[in-house]
Amino acid sequence: MRTQVAIIGSGPSGLLLGQLLSLAGIDNVILDRASKDHILGRVRAGVLEEGTVRLMDEARSGARMHAEGLLHDGISLAFDGRDHRIDLFDLTGGKRVTIYGQTELTHDLMDHREQSGMLSINEAANVTPHDFDGNAPRVTYERHGVTHRIDCDFIAGCDGFHGVSRRSVPDKAIRTFEKVYPFGWLGILADVPPVNDELIYANHPRGFALCSMRSMSRSRYYVQCPLDEKIEEWDDRRFWDELRRRLPAHHAERVVTGPSFEKSIAPLRSFVAEPMRFNRLFLVGDAAHIVPPTGAKGLNLAASDVHYLFEGLREHYRDRSNAGLDAYSQRALARAWKAVRFSWWMTTILHRFPGTGAFDQKIQEAELDYLTHSRAAATALAENYVGLPF
Ligand code: FAD
Ligand code: DHB
Repeated sequence: MRTQVAIIGSGPSGLLLGQLLSLAGIDNVILDRASKDHILGRVRAGVLEEGTVRLMDEARSGARMHAEGLLHDGISLAFDGRDHRIDLFDLTGGKRVTIYGQTELTHDLMDHREQSGMLSINEAANVTPHDFDGNAPRVTYERHGVTHRIDCDFIAGCDGFHGVSRRSVPDKAIRTFEKVYPFGWLGILADVPPVNDELIYANHPRGFALCSMRSMSRSRYYVQCPLDEKIEEWDDRRFWDELRRRLPAHHAERVVTGPSFEKSIAPLRSFVAEPMRFNRLFLVGDAAHIVPPTGAKGLNLAASDVHYLFEGLREHYRDRSNAGLDAYSQRALARAWKAVRFSWWMTTILHRFPGTGAFDQKIQEAELDYLTHSRAAATALAENYVGLPF
């Protein structure tokens, strides 16, 4: 088989890139080792920047997102028993975020791909990129014990942090930067109305908590937990009790509890691989960088990478110019590092780090106090939270 762009990974970045390429008349095939049901069963991000929303529209896949997504003009930082609202809309000259789950966005992109008749191959084993250093790259994979081969012009590695694309690059050609945090997030989904109409990021002596939502009847809550915590030891009652303890009293008493239907622990990590291009192989999204979820940036960064790569590929095929492809790594990394910085900073100011001394604790308190009393400081948070331009 032959295609123009072989895309490894059918998460948000692979699907979004595939949809944009298809609409521009550029042939592509998406390969994923997982089944569609498995991909749609993963509960992840929930906050979309305006740039991500625009890209979904450009991919003509935004109708349900606009109908069902919730527009949020602010977030709340809760500490010292009180709420401190960050007015995103006012501080950024009219920008907002859209609350719409990654699962739904992935669903919409999969549906549109099916309608467009473009090929997706799920449950492909041993997907391997080859010869991307030369002019004739190819991808091989196995299905039902048979090895298949796809010849292509370019390979887009959209296969997440644990994917094969980054691992296929020789060690000497890539540099990685990593920070692992000494805690995780325990998250649940429950069909109960959210405690507040905006997200609450809470810093409490017992640890961080986040109150988010998927709709006005479905809540997503997280609490910071030790890395070695066992999920079996967290029944729903323990989770709700812990969440309530970490919120200011006026919120805690309004939390509506109910059975959770998803519960998982995610580790927190910052990671960047440089460069993001290896001749005809491009790394996109989590394959190239991971951020701790505190700034709600992971999915949005994947989207901005897709934007830069799509522009480059379109210029290559339409205008016979490689300028965009040549600039891809530098453009994507410049934006990624700013999101890495913001996500690290949000994590630092909102979590309790094991073993923190009195000095560091005082610095954290001063930072939060400054944020809630200085318009300049709040503006810096707001412009990063709604997303830097791309
Ligand atoms: P992915 O969504 O990881 O998609 C990669 C795809 O590649 C997958 O479908 C996978 O099956 C496939 N794949 C992997 N390896 C191979 C292979 N060898 N061969 C073929 N296919 C392969 N972000 C936030 O903003 N907020 C959050 O709350 C949040 N929570 C998260 C929780 C978890 C547990 C994780 C892992 C991430 C979370 N993120 C969150 C980050 C966000 O979900 C990611 O940034 C986003 O999914 C990136 O999209 P992607 O398409 O680049 O990668
Ligand atoms: C959600 C996740 C985040 O990491 C975040 O910062 C905000 C919201 C969520 O899953 O809804």
